[in-house]
Amino acid sequence: MAASAEAAPLRVSASPAASKQLGGAGRGHGRDALVFAAGVAAAVLAILGSASVLAPGSSSLLVAFPVPGPEDGPRTFYDDPELSYDAVDGRRLTGWDAKRAEWLRSRGIARRSSPERVVMVSGSQPEPCPGDAGDHLLLRFLKNKLNYCRLHGIQLLYNRDFLQPAMSSYWAKIPIVRAAMLAHPEAEWIWWVDSDAVFTDMDFSLPLATRYGGYNFVAYGVAKDIRRKSWLGINAGVFIIRNCQWSLDFLDEWARMGPAYPEHARWGKVLRDELSDKDSDVACDQSALVYLLLFNWDRLEKKTFIETEYYFMGWWGEIMDRLDGVAASYEAVERRAPGLRRRHAEREHLLHAAARNAAVRGAVPGPAGGGKTGWRRPLITHFTGCQPCSGGRNPTYSKESCDDGMRRALLFADDQVLRAYGFRHAAPLNDSVLPLPFDYPARS
Ligand SMILES: *[C@@H]1O[C@H](CO)[C@@H](O)[C@H](O)[C@H]1NC(C)=O
Repeated sequence: MAASAEAAPLRVSASPAASKQLGGAGRGHGRDALVFAAGVAAAVLAILGSASVLAPGSSSLLVAFPVPGPEDGPRTFYDDPELSYDAVDGRRLTGWDAKRAEWLRSRGIARRSSPERVVMVSGSQPEPCPGDAGDHLLLRFLKNKLNYCRLHGIQLLYNRDFLQPAMSSYWAKIPIVRAAMLAHPEAEWIWWVDSDAVFTDMDFSLPLATRYGGYNFVAYGVAKDIRRKSWLGINAGVFIIRNCQWSLDFLDEWARMGPAYPEHARWGKVLRDELSDKDSDVACDQSALVYLLLFNWDRLEKKTFIETEYYFMGWWGEIMDRLDGVAASYEAVERRAPGLRRRHAEREHLLHAAARNAAVRGAVPGPAGGGKTGWRRPLITHFTGCQPCSGGRNPTYSKESCDDGMRRALLFADDQVLRAYGFRHAAPLNDSVLPLPFDYPARS
Protein backbone atom coordinates (compact mmCIF):
# COMPACT_ATOMS: atom_id res chain seq x y z
CA MET A 1 0.00 0.00 0.00
CA ALA A 2 1.12 3.47 -0.70
CA ALA A 3 0.94 4.64 2.85
CA SER A 4 3.59 7.20 2.38
CA ALA A 5 1.63 8.82 -0.37
CA GLU A 6 -1.77 8.48 1.17
CA ALA A 7 -3.44 11.53 2.53
CA ALA A 8 -5.96 10.05 4.89
CA PRO A 9 -9.39 11.27 3.90
CA LEU A 10 -10.51 11.32 7.50
CA ARG A 11 -7.71 13.50 8.75
CA VAL A 12 -9.24 15.96 11.17
CA SER A 13 -6.16 16.63 13.18
CA ALA A 14 -6.55 20.15 11.81
CA SER A 15 -3.14 20.00 13.08
CA PRO A 16 -0.89 22.77 12.77
CA ALA A 17 2.14 21.84 10.74
CA ALA A 18 4.22 19.23 12.45
CA SER A 19 6.93 21.74 13.17
CA LYS A 20 4.38 23.67 15.15
CA GLN A 21 3.48 20.57 17.10
CA LEU A 22 7.10 20.31 17.99
CA GLY A 23 6.80 23.71 19.55
CA GLY A 24 3.73 22.58 21.46
CA ALA A 25 0.45 23.41 19.80
CA GLY A 26 -2.63 24.65 21.59
CA ARG A 27 -5.33 22.26 22.61
CA GLY A 28 -8.08 21.57 20.12
CA HIS A 29 -11.40 20.84 21.76
CA GLY A 30 -13.07 20.77 18.36
CA ARG A 31 -10.68 18.07 17.33
CA ASP A 32 -11.38 16.10 20.48
CA ALA A 33 -15.05 16.20 19.66
CA LEU A 34 -14.38 14.86 16.18
CA VAL A 35 -12.08 12.20 17.46
CA PHE A 36 -14.70 11.21 19.96
CA ALA A 37 -17.43 11.18 17.33
CA ALA A 38 -15.27 8.96 15.18
CA GLY A 39 -14.78 6.64 18.13
CA VAL A 40 -18.51 6.36 18.69
CA ALA A 41 -19.11 5.78 15.00
CA ALA A 42 -16.48 3.05 15.01
CA ALA A 43 -18.00 1.43 18.05
CA VAL A 44 -21.48 1.57 16.54
CA LEU A 45 -20.18 0.16 13.28
CA ALA A 46 -18.46 -2.62 15.14
CA ILE A 47 -21.72 -3.58 16.77
CA LEU A 48 -23.75 -3.29 13.58
CA GLY A 49 -21.08 -5.33 11.86
CA SER A 50 -21.32 -8.14 14.33
CA ALA A 51 -25.13 -8.05 14.18
CA SER A 52 -25.09 -8.46 10.42
CA VAL A 53 -23.31 -11.78 10.81
CA LEU A 54 -26.69 -13.10 11.89
CA ALA A 55 -28.38 -11.89 8.71
CA PRO A 56 -29.38 -14.70 6.38
CA GLY A 57 -27.11 -15.13 3.41
CA SER A 58 -24.25 -13.29 4.98
CA SER A 59 -22.28 -16.49 5.29
CA SER A 60 -21.77 -16.43 1.53
CA LEU A 61 -19.62 -13.39 2.15
CA LEU A 62 -17.31 -15.53 4.17
CA VAL A 63 -16.71 -18.01 1.38
CA ALA A 64 -16.29 -15.34 -1.29
CA PHE A 65 -12.59 -15.15 -0.47
CA PRO A 66 -11.31 -18.66 0.16
CA VAL A 67 -8.04 -18.46 2.00
CA PRO A 68 -5.39 -20.30 0.00
CA GLY A 69 -4.09 -23.38 1.73
CA PRO A 70 -0.45 -24.36 2.17
CA GLU A 71 -0.20 -25.83 -1.34
CA ASP A 72 -2.27 -23.54 -3.51
CA GLY A 73 -3.04 -19.87 -3.89
CA PRO A 74 -1.09 -17.19 -5.66
CA ARG A 75 2.53 -16.71 -4.81
CA THR A 76 3.20 -13.75 -2.58
CA PHE A 77 6.22 -11.99 -1.17
CA TYR A 78 6.52 -14.83 1.37
CA ASP A 79 7.53 -17.17 -1.47
CA ASP A 80 10.53 -15.00 -2.38
CA PRO A 81 13.64 -16.82 -1.10
CA GLU A 82 15.40 -13.47 -0.77
CA LEU A 83 12.86 -12.09 1.69
CA SER A 84 14.56 -11.65 5.03
CA TYR A 85 13.04 -10.93 8.40
CA ASP A 86 16.44 -9.85 9.61
CA ALA A 87 16.72 -6.15 10.37
CA VAL A 88 20.49 -6.12 10.09
CA ASP A 89 22.00 -8.81 7.86
CA GLY A 90 19.14 -9.41 5.50
CA ARG A 91 18.65 -7.93 2.09
CA ARG A 92 16.89 -4.57 2.14
CA LEU A 93 13.19 -4.94 1.59
CA THR A 94 11.85 -2.77 -1.20
CA GLY A 95 8.42 -2.30 -2.75
CA TRP A 96 6.75 -3.27 0.51
CA ASP A 97 3.64 -1.15 -0.03
CA ALA A 98 2.84 -2.97 -3.27
CA LYS A 99 3.72 -6.37 -1.81
CA ARG A 100 1.53 -5.79 1.19
CA ALA A 101 -1.36 -4.52 -0.93
CA GLU A 102 -1.08 -7.55 -3.20
CA TRP A 103 -1.11 -9.94 -0.26
CA LEU A 104 -4.24 -8.26 1.16
CA ARG A 105 -5.95 -8.43 -2.22
CA SER A 106 -5.10 -12.10 -2.61
CA ARG A 107 -6.74 -12.81 0.75
CA GLY A 108 -9.77 -10.63 0.14
CA ILE A 109 -8.89 -8.37 3.05
CA ALA A 110 -9.69 -4.69 2.74
CA ARG A 111 -6.72 -2.51 3.53
CA ARG A 112 -8.81 0.01 5.37
CA SER A 113 -10.79 -1.11 8.37
CA SER A 114 -12.47 0.76 11.14
CA PRO A 115 -10.96 0.72 13.63
CA GLU A 116 -7.61 0.28 11.91
CA ARG A 117 -5.88 -3.02 12.65
CA VAL A 118 -3.12 -2.80 15.21
CA VAL A 119 -0.55 -5.28 16.49
CA MET A 120 0.92 -4.24 19.81
CA VAL A 121 4.47 -5.43 20.40
CA SER A 122 6.18 -5.55 23.76
CA GLY A 123 8.85 -7.70 25.27
CA SER A 124 11.45 -8.39 27.89
CA GLN A 125 14.76 -10.14 28.25
CA PRO A 126 15.31 -13.84 27.47
CA GLU A 127 16.54 -14.74 30.98
CA PRO A 128 14.69 -14.68 34.31
CA CYS A 129 14.63 -11.29 35.98
CA PRO A 130 17.35 -10.82 38.60
CA GLY A 131 15.22 -8.48 40.73
CA ASP A 132 13.28 -9.84 43.73
CA ALA A 133 9.81 -9.56 42.27
CA GLY A 134 10.91 -8.86 38.70
CA ASP A 135 9.14 -11.70 36.93
CA HIS A 136 5.99 -11.19 39.00
CA LEU A 137 5.95 -7.52 38.06
CA LEU A 138 6.53 -8.26 34.38
CA LEU A 139 3.62 -10.69 34.51
CA ARG A 140 1.43 -7.96 35.91
CA PHE A 141 2.62 -5.44 33.31
CA LEU A 142 1.86 -8.04 30.62
CA LYS A 143 -1.58 -8.73 32.11
CA ASN A 144 -2.29 -5.01 31.92
CA LYS A 145 -1.47 -4.98 28.19
CA LEU A 146 -3.55 -8.11 27.62
CA ASN A 147 -6.49 -6.35 29.25
CA TYR A 148 -6.13 -3.24 27.13
CA CYS A 149 -5.70 -5.24 23.93
CA ARG A 150 -8.67 -7.54 24.63
CA LEU A 151 -10.91 -4.52 25.25
CA HIS A 152 -9.72 -2.72 22.11
CA GLY A 153 -9.52 -5.55 19.59
CA ILE A 154 -5.74 -5.29 19.32
CA GLN A 155 -3.45 -8.29 18.85
CA LEU A 156 -0.57 -8.52 21.28
CA LEU A 157 2.81 -9.95 20.38
CA TYR A 158 5.16 -10.43 23.33
CA ASN A 159 8.78 -11.07 22.51
CA ARG A 160 11.60 -12.37 24.67
CA ASP A 161 14.19 -13.08 22.00
CA PHE A 162 17.03 -11.06 20.62
CA LEU A 163 16.24 -11.62 16.95
CA GLN A 164 19.56 -9.98 16.14
CA PRO A 165 22.06 -10.97 18.83
CA ALA A 166 23.96 -7.69 18.71
CA MET A 167 20.73 -5.72 19.02
CA SER A 168 20.18 -6.52 22.67
CA SER A 169 18.58 -4.65 25.53
CA TYR A 170 16.78 -1.50 24.42
CA TRP A 171 17.84 -2.02 20.79
CA ALA A 172 15.96 -5.33 20.57
CA LYS A 173 12.71 -3.54 19.74
CA ILE A 174 13.79 -2.61 16.21
CA PRO A 175 14.25 -6.16 14.85
CA ILE A 176 10.99 -7.39 16.38
CA VAL A 177 8.97 -4.39 15.19
CA ARG A 178 10.31 -4.91 11.68
CA ALA A 179 9.60 -8.65 11.77
CA ALA A 180 6.09 -7.95 13.09
CA MET A 181 5.37 -5.80 10.03
CA LEU A 182 6.28 -8.68 7.73
CA ALA A 183 4.41 -11.28 9.76
CA HIS A 184 1.30 -9.08 9.96
CA PRO A 185 0.66 -7.55 6.56
CA GLU A 186 -2.99 -7.21 7.64
CA ALA A 187 -2.00 -4.75 10.39
CA GLU A 188 -1.95 -1.09 9.48
CA TRP A 189 0.03 -0.19 12.59
CA ILE A 190 2.59 -1.70 14.92
CA TRP A 191 2.41 -0.23 18.42
CA TRP A 192 5.57 -0.68 20.44
CA VAL A 193 5.05 -0.43 24.23
CA ASP A 194 7.93 -0.96 26.69
CA SER A 195 7.38 -3.73 29.21
CA ASP A 196 7.39 -1.25 32.12
CA ALA A 197 4.57 0.91 30.74
CA VAL A 198 1.06 0.57 32.18
CA PHE A 199 -2.22 1.39 30.45
CA THR A 200 -3.99 3.55 33.00
CA ASP A 201 -6.98 4.52 30.84
CA MET A 202 -8.80 1.49 29.49
CA ASP A 203 -11.31 3.81 27.76
CA PHE A 204 -9.00 5.75 25.45
CA SER A 205 -8.50 4.61 21.86
CA LEU A 206 -5.66 6.09 19.82
CA PRO A 207 -6.97 8.56 17.20
CA LEU A 208 -5.27 6.57 14.43
CA ALA A 209 -7.48 7.34 11.45
CA THR A 210 -8.05 10.94 12.45
CA ARG A 211 -5.26 12.76 14.25
CA TYR A 212 -2.52 10.43 12.98
CA GLY A 213 -4.12 9.71 9.61
CA GLY A 214 -1.45 11.30 7.44
CA TYR A 215 1.51 10.16 9.51
CA ASN A 216 3.66 7.07 9.69
CA PHE A 217 5.46 7.46 13.01
CA VAL A 218 4.09 8.84 16.26
CA ALA A 219 5.99 9.21 19.53
CA TYR A 220 5.61 11.28 22.67
CA GLY A 221 7.67 14.40 23.11
CA VAL A 222 8.21 17.26 25.51
CA ALA A 223 8.45 20.55 23.64
CA LYS A 224 10.85 22.32 25.98
CA ASP A 225 13.24 19.35 25.96
CA ILE A 226 13.09 19.13 22.19
CA ARG A 227 13.97 22.81 21.90
CA ARG A 228 17.09 22.33 23.97
CA LYS A 229 17.99 19.19 22.01
CA SER A 230 17.81 17.00 25.07
CA TRP A 231 18.02 13.24 24.62
CA LEU A 232 14.88 13.14 26.78
CA GLY A 233 12.96 15.25 24.26
CA ILE A 234 11.29 12.31 22.53
CA ASN A 235 10.58 9.01 24.23
CA ALA A 236 11.42 5.75 22.46
CA GLY A 237 9.51 3.62 24.99
CA VAL A 238 6.15 3.90 23.24
CA PHE A 239 5.56 4.57 19.56
CA ILE A 240 3.27 3.60 16.75
CA ILE A 241 4.57 3.03 13.27
CA ARG A 242 2.59 2.42 10.11
CA ASN A 243 3.18 -0.82 8.28
CA CYS A 244 4.71 0.60 5.10
CA GLN A 245 7.95 1.04 3.16
CA TRP A 246 8.61 4.47 4.68
CA SER A 247 8.62 2.84 8.10
CA LEU A 248 10.95 0.02 7.07
CA ASP A 249 13.40 2.60 5.74
CA PHE A 250 13.02 4.63 8.92
CA LEU A 251 13.71 1.56 11.09
CA ASP A 252 16.75 0.74 8.95
CA GLU A 253 18.13 4.22 9.42
CA TRP A 254 17.50 4.09 13.17
CA ALA A 255 19.01 0.61 13.47
CA ARG A 256 22.19 1.72 11.71
CA MET A 257 23.11 3.70 14.82
CA GLY A 258 22.81 0.53 16.90
CA PRO A 259 25.35 -2.01 18.17
CA ALA A 260 25.03 -4.36 15.18
CA TYR A 261 26.75 -1.79 12.96
CA PRO A 262 30.36 -0.68 12.86
CA GLU A 263 29.32 3.00 13.01
CA HIS A 264 27.78 2.45 16.46
CA ALA A 265 30.83 3.62 18.41
CA ARG A 266 31.16 6.76 16.32
CA TRP A 267 27.47 7.52 16.80
CA GLY A 268 27.95 7.42 20.55
CA LYS A 269 30.36 10.34 20.30
CA VAL A 270 28.20 12.25 17.81
CA LEU A 271 25.18 11.93 20.10
CA ARG A 272 27.13 13.11 23.11
CA ASP A 273 28.41 16.13 21.18
CA GLU A 274 25.15 17.09 19.50
CA LEU A 275 22.56 16.45 22.20
CA SER A 276 22.64 18.92 25.06
CA ASP A 277 22.59 16.54 28.02
CA LYS A 278 23.84 13.18 26.84
CA ASP A 279 26.69 12.33 29.16
CA SER A 280 27.40 8.82 27.99
CA ASP A 281 29.45 7.78 24.97
CA VAL A 282 27.14 4.90 24.19
CA ALA A 283 24.40 5.37 21.63
CA CYS A 284 21.10 4.18 23.10
CA ASP A 285 17.95 3.72 21.07
CA GLN A 286 16.36 6.86 22.45
CA SER A 287 19.22 9.28 21.92
CA ALA A 288 19.58 7.84 18.41
CA LEU A 289 15.88 8.42 17.74
CA VAL A 290 16.04 11.97 19.06
CA TYR A 291 19.06 12.71 16.89
CA LEU A 292 17.54 11.08 13.83
CA LEU A 293 14.37 13.14 14.12
CA LEU A 294 15.78 16.49 15.22
CA PHE A 295 18.63 16.55 12.74
CA ASN A 296 16.57 15.30 9.81
CA TRP A 297 13.34 17.04 10.63
CA ASP A 298 13.01 18.69 7.21
CA ARG A 299 13.01 15.29 5.59
CA LEU A 300 10.95 13.39 8.18
CA GLU A 301 8.45 15.93 9.48
CA LYS A 302 5.81 15.23 6.86
CA LYS A 303 5.29 11.73 8.18
CA THR A 304 6.28 12.12 11.83
CA PHE A 305 3.94 13.30 14.57
CA ILE A 306 5.39 14.22 17.94
CA GLU A 307 2.51 14.00 20.39
CA THR A 308 2.78 16.61 23.11
CA GLU A 309 -0.85 17.15 24.07
CA TYR A 310 -1.79 14.12 26.13
CA TYR A 311 -0.10 11.20 27.86
CA PHE A 312 0.56 9.05 24.82
CA MET A 313 3.31 8.11 27.25
CA GLY A 314 3.30 9.76 30.65
CA TRP A 315 6.20 9.66 33.06
CA TRP A 316 5.12 8.08 36.37
CA GLY A 317 6.75 10.79 38.50
CA GLU A 318 4.28 13.34 37.13
CA ILE A 319 1.28 11.09 37.59
CA MET A 320 1.35 9.04 40.76
CA ASP A 321 0.34 11.78 43.20
CA ARG A 322 -2.73 12.50 41.12
CA LEU A 323 -4.18 9.03 40.50
CA ASP A 324 -6.47 9.02 43.55
CA GLY A 325 -7.82 12.40 42.50
CA VAL A 326 -8.38 11.11 38.98
CA ALA A 327 -10.34 8.13 40.31
CA ALA A 328 -12.44 10.43 42.52
CA SER A 329 -13.20 12.77 39.59
CA TYR A 330 -14.50 9.91 37.45
CA GLU A 331 -16.60 8.53 40.31
CA ALA A 332 -18.16 11.95 40.87
CA VAL A 333 -19.25 12.04 37.22
CA GLU A 334 -20.67 8.52 37.43
CA ARG A 335 -22.69 9.37 40.54
CA ARG A 336 -24.55 11.95 38.48
CA ALA A 337 -25.01 9.75 35.39
CA PRO A 338 -27.08 6.58 35.91
CA GLY A 339 -26.35 5.45 32.33
CA LEU A 340 -22.64 5.18 33.14
CA ARG A 341 -23.41 2.90 36.07
CA ARG A 342 -25.20 0.26 34.02
CA ARG A 343 -23.50 -3.10 34.13
CA HIS A 344 -22.61 -4.49 30.73
CA ALA A 345 -20.81 -7.23 28.85
CA GLU A 346 -17.14 -6.73 28.33
CA ARG A 347 -17.53 -6.84 24.55
CA GLU A 348 -19.53 -3.60 24.78
CA HIS A 349 -16.67 -1.88 26.53
CA LEU A 350 -15.87 0.60 23.75
CA LEU A 351 -19.44 1.84 23.54
CA HIS A 352 -19.54 2.49 27.27
CA ALA A 353 -16.05 3.97 27.17
CA ALA A 354 -17.21 6.47 24.54
CA ALA A 355 -20.17 7.46 26.72
CA ARG A 356 -17.92 7.86 29.76
CA ASN A 357 -15.44 9.95 27.77
CA ALA A 358 -18.28 12.18 26.61
CA ALA A 359 -19.50 12.64 30.18
CA VAL A 360 -16.10 13.43 31.68
CA ARG A 361 -15.17 15.82 28.91
CA GLY A 362 -16.19 19.19 30.24
CA ALA A 363 -16.83 17.84 33.73
CA VAL A 364 -13.24 16.77 34.42
CA PRO A 365 -10.51 19.21 33.34
CA GLY A 366 -7.59 18.10 31.22
CA PRO A 367 -7.14 16.46 27.82
CA ALA A 368 -8.56 13.04 26.96
CA GLY A 369 -5.72 10.60 27.54
CA GLY A 370 -4.46 12.67 30.48
CA GLY A 371 -1.88 15.40 30.72
CA LYS A 372 0.37 17.41 32.96
CA THR A 373 -2.66 19.31 34.23
CA GLY A 374 -6.20 18.24 34.98
CA TRP A 375 -7.73 15.01 36.25
CA ARG A 376 -8.27 12.88 33.18
CA ARG A 377 -6.92 9.34 33.24
CA PRO A 378 -3.44 9.05 31.70
CA LEU A 379 -3.44 6.66 28.75
CA ILE A 380 -0.02 5.25 29.62
CA THR A 381 2.05 5.58 32.78
CA HIS A 382 5.64 4.61 32.07
CA PHE A 383 7.89 3.54 34.94
CA THR A 384 11.10 4.76 33.37
CA GLY A 385 13.98 4.38 35.77
CA CYS A 386 12.20 1.96 38.12
CA GLN A 387 13.65 -1.09 36.32
CA PRO A 388 11.13 -3.65 37.62
CA CYS A 389 12.96 -6.62 36.06
CA SER A 390 16.47 -5.95 37.30
CA GLY A 391 15.51 -4.06 40.43
CA GLY A 392 18.39 -1.69 39.67
CA ARG A 393 16.34 1.46 39.75
CA ASN A 394 17.69 4.94 39.21
CA PRO A 395 19.26 5.91 42.57
CA THR A 396 17.32 9.18 42.67
CA TYR A 397 14.04 7.25 43.13
CA SER A 398 13.23 5.57 46.41
CA LYS A 399 12.24 1.92 46.55
CA GLU A 400 8.87 2.91 48.00
CA SER A 401 8.08 5.44 45.30
CA CYS A 402 8.81 2.96 42.51
CA ASP A 403 7.25 -0.11 44.14
CA ASP A 404 4.14 1.63 45.40
CA GLY A 405 3.85 3.57 42.16
CA MET A 406 3.86 0.46 40.01
CA ARG A 407 1.37 -1.36 42.25
CA ARG A 408 -0.88 1.68 42.43
CA ALA A 409 -0.94 2.18 38.65
CA LEU A 410 -1.54 -1.52 37.99
CA LEU A 411 -4.39 -1.72 40.51
CA PHE A 412 -5.87 1.54 39.20
CA ALA A 413 -5.99 -0.03 35.74
CA ASP A 414 -7.22 -3.39 37.06
CA ASP A 415 -10.17 -1.74 38.76
CA GLN A 416 -11.38 -0.40 35.43
CA VAL A 417 -11.34 -3.94 34.04
CA LEU A 418 -12.56 -5.85 37.11
CA ARG A 419 -15.72 -3.78 37.09
CA ALA A 420 -17.17 -5.85 34.23
CA TYR A 421 -16.66 -8.88 36.49
CA GLY A 422 -18.38 -7.28 39.46
CA PHE A 423 -15.37 -6.45 41.63
CA ARG A 424 -12.85 -3.81 42.57
CA HIS A 425 -9.85 -3.70 44.87
CA ALA A 426 -10.44 -2.88 48.51
CA ALA A 427 -8.12 0.14 48.41
CA PRO A 428 -5.59 1.70 46.01
CA LEU A 429 -2.76 -0.47 47.36
CA ASN A 430 -4.72 -3.49 48.55
CA ASP A 431 -4.64 -6.71 46.53
CA SER A 432 -7.91 -8.06 47.98
CA VAL A 433 -11.05 -7.54 45.97
CA LEU A 434 -14.55 -6.58 47.10
CA PRO A 435 -17.80 -7.27 45.26
CA LEU A 436 -19.36 -4.17 43.73
CA PRO A 437 -22.89 -3.33 44.83
CA PHE A 438 -25.54 -3.00 42.13
CA ASP A 439 -25.58 0.53 40.65
CA TYR A 440 -22.02 1.26 41.81
CA PRO A 441 -20.82 3.93 42.49
CA ALA A 442 -24.20 5.48 43.35
CA ARG A 443 -24.49 3.40 46.50
CA SER A 444 -20.92 2.46 47.28
C1 LIG B 1 -7.24 -5.18 52.32
O1 LIG B 1 -8.64 -5.21 52.28
C2 LIG B 1 -9.19 -6.28 53.01
C3 LIG B 1 -10.68 -6.30 52.71
O2 LIG B 1 -11.27 -5.05 53.02
C4 LIG B 1 -8.87 -6.13 54.47
O3 LIG B 1 -9.42 -7.20 55.21
C5 LIG B 1 -7.38 -6.09 54.64
O4 LIG B 1 -7.05 -5.83 55.97
C6 LIG B 1 -6.77 -5.03 53.74
N1 LIG B 1 -5.34 -5.18 53.79
C7 LIG B 1 -4.54 -4.19 54.10
C8 LIG B 1 -3.08 -4.49 54.07
O5 LIG B 1 -4.95 -3.08 54.39
